[in-house]
Amino acid sequence: MRAQAPAVAKWHLDGMNYVFTMPLSDHADHSGGDYIYFQGHPREFDTDREEITTRGPDHPRVKTAPFQHVGDTMFTRGSRVYHAVTPVTRGDRITLAVSLFCPLLGKQDENRFWHSAPDDGLLRTLRNWGELRRAVHRPAAYCRREGIPILPLKKHTRP
Ligand SMILES: [Fe+2]
Repeated sequence: MRAQAPAVAKWHLDGMNYVFTMPLSDHADHSGGDYIYFQGHPREFDTDREEITTRGPDHPRVKTAPFQHVGDTMFTRGSRVYHAVTPVTRGDRITLAVSLFCPLLGKQDENRFWHSAPDDGLLRTLRNWGELRRAVHRPAAYCRREGIPILPLKKHTRP
């Protein structure tokens, strides 16, 4: 017998303060994959975590982001708003998420870990960041290792 998928995936706070989220696929292209968030202070979420995570979108203080089309956007205080994404049960959900902080304003990272740590665990996150750092420093080696073709740049002419 196949295990039943969880109703809501990975409630978490982001590592950086500000997060800009934009779907790159229309909601009609997939089922599930809803961005849901708790409308309240993180302390309230922690206090009622069991009930909130069990009820998910059916909880009265859990709201669903109104993403319907490519380009719809939401800007959140990601490190202070608990959020999650419901499982995708049909199609593909593609999302652009950009995390921002301003180093000039003092300590802006409120979490001890980067965004993916709640999802992947600390060790995997550190390994991923190491791989990213190596890829940035040696992009050709990364492309060769991953089998990504390195194509010559095309010259664009104005019409
Ligand atoms: Fe997040």
